[in-house]
Amino acid sequence: MRAKRDCLSLTDYSREGILALLARAAELKKGIPGTGPAMPLEGRCVGMLFEKSSTRTRVSFEVGIRQLGGHAIFMNWNDVQLGRGEPLRDSARVLSRYLDAIVVRTYGHSVVEELARWATIPVINALTDLLHPCQVLGDLFTLQEVGLDIATMSAAWIGDGNNMANTWITAADVLGFRLTLACPEGYDPSVKPISKNVRLTRDIKEAAKDAEVISTDVWASMGQEDEVEERRAVFAGYQVNSELLALAAPNVWVLHCLPAHRGEEITDEVMESDRSLVWDQAENRLHVQKAILEDLLG
Ligand code: CP
Ligand code: NVA
Repeated sequence: MRAKRDCLSLTDYSREGILALLARAAELKKGIPGTGPAMPLEGRCVGMLFEKSSTRTRVSFEVGIRQLGGHAIFMNWNDVQLGRGEPLRDSARVLSRYLDAIVVRTYGHSVVEELARWATIPVINALTDLLHPCQVLGDLFTLQEVGLDIATMSAAWIGDGNNMANTWITAADVLGFRLTLACPEGYDPSVKPISKNVRLTRDIKEAAKDAEVISTDVWASMGQEDEVEERRAVFAGYQVNSELLALAAPNVWVLHCLPAHRGEEITDEVMESDRSLVWDQAENRLHVQKAILEDLLG
């Protein structure tokens, strides 16, 4: 019997593994018939355990699970006994007796690691404070769709060294593309790059120069609500706007995982411009997550 696998980080995959998931997502998006089991999740239940708010991740997973023939059970963390302190290792083993996989959105990354350790079913990371692998997989898919070579592209990250920035670093480490992150002092990513193709700078112009992709995210992530004012001051110079885009490659693509704060990390003009891929990014969560589910459960 094959050991169960989890999707906690893009580093759980090889370069070939990521490319295969993206290729499968493309087939699923096109609805190519005869390219795999039509309903790989038929008769199966996937738990959705969420401790933080979500629009895209929750809905795209629930729809994707349904489209693959399965059933999703949404659990708000505070409505199940975990919210009253039931140990993770107990909950993981109990939920494994009912469910076929579990999708988890929480704060500490160690929580998903602990769940994955004790669960006998695949655990999928739907965002932690450290990583957001499903999002960056969708981002990479979106860039492939517009014709970029995701192994050789030149990408920039502007803003907070948060879970999204960390995940971009893991993607660049696995795939080998060039990534320059511009973050203010004190807000560097916590994931340390292992490859030479990843660089850190304080200078957003340096990061944006000739970039084919510019990605950003909110200045204060979920769980940092108390720091909003302080962060607004620190990040004031870290905005993706048309002046910054002018320094990038002529056909630069702009990404934002959403939700966005227009006028803070990104201008309304850039969000609504023809360089913005944000709506395709959001849609593509559905297709890549179906590929992940099929890979883990098919
Ligand atoms: N981008 C993303 O994960 O969005 P949600 O928080 O709405 O799920
Ligand atoms: N960095 C953001 C991403 C939201 C999808 C957060 O963690 O709130």
